Amino acid sequence: MTQIHVLNGPNLNLLGKREPEIYGAATLEDVEALCRSACAEGIDIRLRQSNHEGQLIDWIHDARETAAGIVINPGAYTHTSIAILDALNAYAGPVVEVHISNVHKRESFRHVSYVSLRADGVIAGLGVEGYAAAVRYLVQRIR
Ligand code: DQA
Repeated sequence: MTQIHVLNGPNLNLLGKREPEIYGAATLEDVEALCRSACAEGIDIRLRQSNHEGQLIDWIHDARETAAGIVINPGAYTHTSIAILDALNAYAGPVVEVHISNVHKRESFRHVSYVSLRADGVIAGLGVEGYAAAVRYLVQRIR
């Protein structure tokens, strides 16, 4: 079955518990349910989270063979990881970068994104709804 991979970086396992005034009350399980309801028949969601850069890179490599599109919230690696950018550059399908918070309203180090150099689209500040918007976009791109 066609798959959309939803990749989440460091600290996003704590979603719902971590800085709820910034990231809200929804958990990663809620994000998965949201992505599934935004998805369409014949397309499956594979949501994964890791606190490790190399693991995220391995999953992006895996997506080369298995994913028709990627939604990625790289967490803080957004602002630091050339290696994640390089991995995404080796992926041919559409990529949407999602941030729950509006990173542009926050500290200046969050205004830089290496991943944005590759992403087809960037969503920031819509809360977890940003994941659903990204999935809806990929569904219409894939079809
Ligand atoms: C984040 C924003 C990043 O700056 C931060 O390091 C995160 C989450 C977001 O979803 O708003 O971990 O990607």
